[in-house]
Formats: sequence, structure tokens, C-alpha cells
Amino acid sequence: MNEPTSAPNRDHLAQRAERERRARKEAEKLLDEKSRALYAANKELESAHAAQKQTADQMRAVLESMPNGVVITGADRNIEYLNFVAQQMFGSTRSLASKQRLEHFLPQLESATPDGARGIAEAFDPVSTIAQRSDGTHFPVEVSAAVAGSQGQSTVWMVRDITNRTIQELRRKQLESQLSQAQRLESLGTMAGGIAHELNTPIQFVSDNTKFLSDAFRDLRSALAALQEQVGAEKAAATTAEFDLEYLNQEIPQAIAQSLDGLARIAEIVLAVKRFSHPVGSNKEDNDLNEIVRTAAMVSKNQWKCVADLDLDLASDLPRVRSNASELNQVLLNLIVNAAHAIEDAGGATRKGKIVVQTRAVSQGVEVRITDTGAGIAPEIKGRIFDLFFTTKAPGRGTGQGLSLVHTFVTKNHGGSIDVESEPGQGATFIVTLPAAGT
Ligand SMILES: Nc1ncnc2c1ncn2[C@@H]1O[C@H](COP(=O)(O)OP(=O)(O)OP(=O)(O)O)[C@@H](O)[C@H]1O
Ligand SMILES: [Mg+2]
Repeated sequence: MNEPTSAPNRDHLAQRAERERRARKEAEKLLDEKSRALYAANKELESAHAAQKQTADQMRAVLESMPNGVVITGADRNIEYLNFVAQQMFGSTRSLASKQRLEHFLPQLESATPDGARGIAEAFDPVSTIAQRSDGTHFPVEVSAAVAGSQGQSTVWMVRDITNRTIQELRRKQLESQLSQAQRLESLGTMAGGIAHELNTPIQFVSDNTKFLSDAFRDLRSALAALQEQVGAEKAAATTAEFDLEYLNQEIPQAIAQSLDGLARIAEIVLAVKRFSHPVGSNKEDNDLNEIVRTAAMVSKNQWKCVADLDLDLASDLPRVRSNASELNQVLLNLIVNAAHAIEDAGGATRKGKIVVQTRAVSQGVEVRITDTGAGIAPEIKGRIFDLFFTTKAPGRGTGQGLSLVHTFVTKNHGGSIDVESEPGQGATFIVTLPAAGT
């Protein structure tokens, strides 16, 4: 049996229980306070997170609605983000692009500034370079960049497609060049026309005089023969031999005939130059295209005669063409000179080639085909030959303006069309179609 607890012991126990109860109460109060503080902190964190999320959503919305492409890259220029416009521009998706480096879409980035791609972030103005789509096609862009992150670990790239602007600039240059070419031709034409006009009169009287000499010599020869007969063959023989009349009798008519032939050719050239120098921009007339072809073939003879023979196959039933003769002359000249160059490139200097200019009446009007046996046109450049300044020729031999001008004259100024067929190594045919007069 337990001994009954003594009075002092009981007091001690009661005091201890009281202390413990107070301590528990204190602890409970503290716990309550801490829980409240924690709850408040948690609430604060939650609202900070919501604010941050809202800012991030706003930023994303801004980036997605930007009219320019935005690309964010990390270290080593690995792509981390691509906005909607950039995806459209490069023909890629965010997930595909995230496996690429920026150079995949901007292959010439390193050479865009003297300081490489790094220099773009420092450049004040956007830098122009060439971008590449996923399908391998290229287009011009302007790129600017900003380094982000405290250690500069990411970069934001702004990319702007400037294809339209580039096309407009090219068009402006093309117009300027056509204008200066037209002005050049006009002044050249005026000068050539003036010279041709001045040459006309002397050619006329030299021709008339030579014809007179021809007739006069015929009479003189008859008179001489009559005199020889009267004097007698023996007496006349000494004089005939002394002045070598036999020789003169034979050579003078030949010399006169050759002179007349040369004069006829000069007259023909002067006429061609006059026709050629018909002022640019003058009103259109109903022209005979066959005549224009003949003139162009003759004026360009120097260019083709050493490398090719030129055949004209001209339709006799060709309707007239409402046209500017000077411009059509330019068209024919450029196409014939190009044909001669192509033949030269195919070795025409050692083995002569052939140029055929054919005219035909067709349902759309009139068709001219210029066919050559030259080097032909490679398929990869066929789509570019009408571009201004596109040339495969060395400087001095070609400027790449011919076909561009031909295209403008035929399509814009005459409502016609121009096409080309070519078998590389076999030659090429340029087909110009023009509407007939009155259609
Ligand atoms: N008949 C042809 N055969 C083969 N290639 C041709 C022919 N005609 C034109 N080309 C090609 O098209 C390019 C462009 O021709 P275009 O007439 O515009 O310029 P170009 O002849 O080079 O110079 P330019 O005419 O200004 O003197 C040529 O450089 C050539 O490569
Ligand atoms: Mg040319």
C-alpha cells in the first residue's frame, strides 16, 4: 500500500502543473501568432506571384502582337523563343526552332557588321542582312538586338522583313536607269540622225556624178573605138599600147561599178541610221516589222558577221504594228547582239553559228522569233535574265540592261509579250509577240 502524499509534496506538484499549463498556453499563443504571420506571408507571396504572372502574360501578348519578328536567344545563340511573326517569317515552329541556333535563320549574321553578330547590339541603326526560311529560300531583313539579363546571357533580336522596300528600291533604280538609257539613246539618236541627214546630200551628188561618169565612159569608149577604126588598127596600136587603153577599158567600168555599189551601200546605211534615230518617245505609227528587222540586222552586222550567219525568214503577209520604230529597233538589236554573244561563247569564232530572225502573223498579232545556235541558257538563271543588271558577261562586254529594257519596251510600251525557250548547249529562241495595228 502506498504511503499517503505529504502536504508539502502536494503543493509542489500543484505548482509544477500550474507552470506547465502556463507554458503550454504561452506556446499555443506563439504558435497561433506564427501561423498568422505565415498565412500573411503566404498571401503576400501569392499576390506577388499573380502580379508577376500578369506581367509575364502582358509581355508575351506584346511580343506576340509585334509587327516584327522577335527571337530570344540564350548562351551560344541557341533559340529560346520565337514570336508569331518570326515563326511566319522563317516558316518554322517554336518547337522546331528551339533546336536551332540563330544562324540557322540568319546565316550571314557574323558578317553583317565588322564586329560580327555582337556588333548588332551595339549598332545604333538596324543592320541589313539576308534571312533564310526553312525551305531554303532567302529574303532581305533588317536586324537589331538588345542584350538582356544581368550577365548578358540572353539577347532579344528584332527582325524586320524588308522585301517590299527592296523591291520598291529596285523598281526606282530600274526606272532611273531606263530613263537615263532613254535619254542616252535620244541624244545618240539625235546626233546620228543629224549626221545621216548631213551625209545624204554629198552621197546624192557623188552617186549622180559616178552614174554620169559611168555613162560618159561608155560613150567615150564607143567614140574611141570609132576613132581607132578611122585611124586604122596599125596606127592606133602604138597609142593604145602607150596609154594601156586595153587595161583602162577593162578596169574603169569595174571601178565605177564597184563605186556605185559602195555608194548604194552607204546610202542604205544612212537610211537605216535615220530610221534608227527616230526620236525616242515619239508617237507610234503603223510600222512594217519586217522593215525594222532588216534595219536592225544591218545596223548590228559588225557584231555578228565574224561569228555567225544571219538568215531572215520574213512573212510576206505580216500585218503592220502600231509601234515606236526606235524602241522596236532597240528590241531587235539587243536580241541579235545577245544571240551573237551566245554563239561567240559557244566557240563561234572557230565554228560559225547561225542566227535566224523569223516573222509570222499569229492570232495575237505578230510574232518575231530570234533563234541562235549559241551556248543556251542554264535553267537556274532563266528566271533572272530579264532582271535589271543581271549579266553573265565580263565588265565591258555586258551591263545586264539589255533584256530589262527589251522587256519594258515590249510589254509596257507595246502591250506585247516576250518569252524564251532554250536547250543549254544547243541555243536559245526569244519570242516577241506584238499586237497588230487596229487590234
Ligand atoms: N541568246 C542568248 N543565249 C544565251 N544567254 C543569253 C541570251 N540572251 C541573254 N542571255 C543571258 O542573259 C543575260 C542578260 O542579258 P542582257 O541582254 O539583259 O544583258 P547583257 O547582254 O549581259 O548586257 P547588255 O545587254 O546590257 O550589254 C546575259 O548576260 C546572258 O547570260
Ligand atoms: Mg544584252
